[in-house]
Amino acid sequence: MSQPDPKLETPASGGLSAEDTAGFTAPTADDENAASLRAQEALRAEAEKSGTNLDTLVGRAVVDQGLATPEQVQHCLTLAREAEERNQQSLWELLVSNGYATRSQMTRLKERLDEERKGIPGYTDFKELGKGAMARVYRAKQRSLDRYVAVKILPQKFSNNPSFIERFFREGQAAAKLNHPNIVQAFDVGQHRETYYFVMEYVDGRTVHDDIVKQQRYKEETAIEVAIQVAEALEHAHERGLIHRDVKPKNIMITKNDVVKLADMGLARAISDKEAAEAEKGKAFGTPYYISPEQVMGLDTVGPQADIYSLGATLYHMVTGVVPYEGKDPSEVMKKHLKAELTPPDHVNPKLSAGISEVIEMMMAKKPSHRYKNCRDLLLDLRALKAGDAPPIAHKGISELSGLETLAAAEAAAVSGEIPVDAREAARKSVLDIFSEPLFLVLLILLGVSIIANVVQIAI
Ligand SMILES: Nc1ncnc2c1ncn2[C@@H]1O[C@H](COP(=O)(O)OP(=O)(O)OP(=O)(O)O)[C@@H](O)[C@H]1O
Ligand SMILES: [Mg+2]
Repeated sequence: MSQPDPKLETPASGGLSAEDTAGFTAPTADDENAASLRAQEALRAEAEKSGTNLDTLVGRAVVDQGLATPEQVQHCLTLAREAEERNQQSLWELLVSNGYATRSQMTRLKERLDEERKGIPGYTDFKELGKGAMARVYRAKQRSLDRYVAVKILPQKFSNNPSFIERFFREGQAAAKLNHPNIVQAFDVGQHRETYYFVMEYVDGRTVHDDIVKQQRYKEETAIEVAIQVAEALEHAHERGLIHRDVKPKNIMITKNDVVKLADMGLARAISDKEAAEAEKGKAFGTPYYISPEQVMGLDTVGPQADIYSLGATLYHMVTGVVPYEGKDPSEVMKKHLKAELTPPDHVNPKLSAGISEVIEMMMAKKPSHRYKNCRDLLLDLRALKAGDAPPIAHKGISELSGLETLAAAEAAAVSGEIPVDAREAARKSVLDIFSEPLFLVLLILLGVSIIANVVQIAI
């Protein structure tokens, strides 16, 4: 995956320490023989610790790896037993001296056994895919089902926090109950020694963040298609009582077949908030470009509308190439989510349709009650946009909202004695409008006739 663009996100300096990822770092390229000897030592120590015969351990791994056939291993085992000086190195040496495996193959085998020993039982072949502010993600082979999965390893610091652990398992279980083509499937949550991990579907693809970094902005139709698939994923989760709470370009993945997958469902709730802040004290967080105002305020009542806001902010970034609110630090950005007026997306990118701007503005309304009620409504508008029509809800909503805002502004002005431009314009319009009322015209004519009659009477 590509590196984050500094223009787009403040890179989080909060990387993980070596102890967080023990067992997952690449081995050093030492002299082959020395490495081989150390490998044998490590394996012997391991075998002694676990009460496993080293020959059994090595023999099984050699066959597993396809380095030698079971017969060849058996042959070497027999030779080893016949050897005068029977020690636990013999199978290792015999496999090499009989030409069944090379020394470097045996060294690589050690590395793999080592990984298994320190890593998560049942998973091998760890390869780092990426790292976020909180964790590292690896592709690994799940041996039982012979498939690739993605494993998120959390920092060991979390293991000291009982409330985090409880939430981590609870949210993981809730996420695993979801089943939707647009949600990265959660497979397992677990703990091995001090390490907490989350196993999920491996997505062979890219993130929306990668795309933004590369191409700066999406075509409107493509962005709408991505938003539809994410909204479908959210609708599924919301209907089952799960709020994502961290919808953003880095958590939206796109497979090689253009299927959109929303990642980290359930995880944000488990590791956001206080514990995360405490665990990462002193380190910079990624700038919260997509967070909803109610999350900024730390409200307990964060609901589906928070995800709709974040998806709106993501869509804004996708179609304009810039985040909705910039700031010199996270707190400035968060304040803007609360207070600053949004520059309409079509003012940033004039090529955008009025429809998509209306939809984004409704998704990103400051008050949750001014946003879409739910993802079903949002999907109605997104599908209308896809068909080239005006978005029925946002279109109506925006005009009603601006009416309300004008009223509110007029009320406020009555108190302060100052009439805002919009309210003055509205008042002027309503005075002019009266001239087009039929009843008003009839009265006007009658008044005219009566004046003429009076004038004539006086003249006579
Ligand atoms: N299921 C997955 N399949 C394949 N790659 C993944 C998967 N989940 C995450 N990744 C990769 O790992 C990277 C790190 O993911 P992680 O969720 O830890 O952080 P993030 O979402 O990128 O950022 P942050 O920590 O700021 O939320 C992602 O950017 C993505 O490239
Ligand atoms: Mg993520």
